[in-house]
Amino acid sequence: MASILLVGPGAIGATLTAWLCQDDRHRVTVAARTAFESIETQTPQGVILAKPQVITEPAQVQHVDWILVATKAYDSESATAWFPQAAGPRTRLAVIQNGVEHVQRFEKHFPRERIVPVMIDLPAERTAPGRTVQKGPAHLVVPSGRNGADFIALFAHANFDAKQTDDFVTAVWRKLCLNSAGAPCAVVLKPNAISHHDGVAELMRNIVRECVAVGRAEGATLEDSIPEEIVERMRRAPRDSGNSMYADRLAGRPMEYDARNGVIVRLGRKHGIAAPMNALMVDLLEAAQNS
Ligand SMILES: NC(=O)c1ccc[n+]([C@@H]2O[C@H](COP(=O)([O-])OP(=O)(O)OC[C@H]3O[C@@H](n4cnc5c(N)ncnc54)[C@H](OP(=O)(O)O)[C@@H]3O)[C@@H](O)[C@H]2O)c1
Repeated sequence: MASILLVGPGAIGATLTAWLCQDDRHRVTVAARTAFESIETQTPQGVILAKPQVITEPAQVQHVDWILVATKAYDSESATAWFPQAAGPRTRLAVIQNGVEHVQRFEKHFPRERIVPVMIDLPAERTAPGRTVQKGPAHLVVPSGRNGADFIALFAHANFDAKQTDDFVTAVWRKLCLNSAGAPCAVVLKPNAISHHDGVAELMRNIVRECVAVGRAEGATLEDSIPEEIVERMRRAPRDSGNSMYADRLAGRPMEYDARNGVIVRLGRKHGIAAPMNALMVDLLEAAQNS
């Protein structure tokens, strides 16, 4: 049995909460910015209804065994407002976000040795507060060790593929390769079909080549074939499918371009590796978002 505070009940957070509530040994509380009554998640295995406690004020929470943060990366700082009330001396923090800076985003606010970074590959969409659609299977990867094993155990009743790895750095950079390549879709506000344009496909390859170079400098094992594999994958996807930055821009929401492309520029600078295509994506998306 575990007491769990899920911060950020959006597409990922509400879907994870629905599955966590399948295990009635857990006491699940949802820390929301926008209140709702219940969760309804359509999964490949059917609809899951859940009624966790939903709170909107940090004063309403008590110490928990686990804090799970599933906000967008740019909301990480605001998510820490829940920590003083929720975190006790043994509480662990799982960071379930995209990018490669899971620990760095939170180490100023939480003891590093109790932070569990989580790589999540779970296609999910939020249709309304508390309403989500899980569109495919869920894959979770955590670093090997006690914290990772205990995190995976929380999902014993979920139909997830959850694994520990001795090479988490490679797992998150591999995912970043895919995420970084999606930026042109958000720039031109078009779905994956644009990957069939030869010039755009080459731009995507170059974005990923920069990601591979910086990822290797950070210690990840990444093959030369990854840029081509990603373009092929985008070309095989339905022409009208899109990534979440594209969806966020369409909906007028902020975008995670810093966590997906800016990080390649920043860490590249640290290693003396230029990342001009990623820098271009950041400038264009920043201008699009802020104008
Ligand atoms: N969606 C996917 O398919 C997918 C797949 C893999 C990885 N990811 C990654 O998973 C992370 C979460 O993505 P998402 O798609 O689930 O995002 P999302 O649908 O935008 O959900 C984020 C949630 O966080 C809430 N929030 C923001 N600040 C908060 C705070 N201070 N306290 C409590 N709640 C707060 C938002 O509240 P409001 O309800 O007020 O907006 C929203 O419910 C991102 O890093 C994303 O890149 C997403």
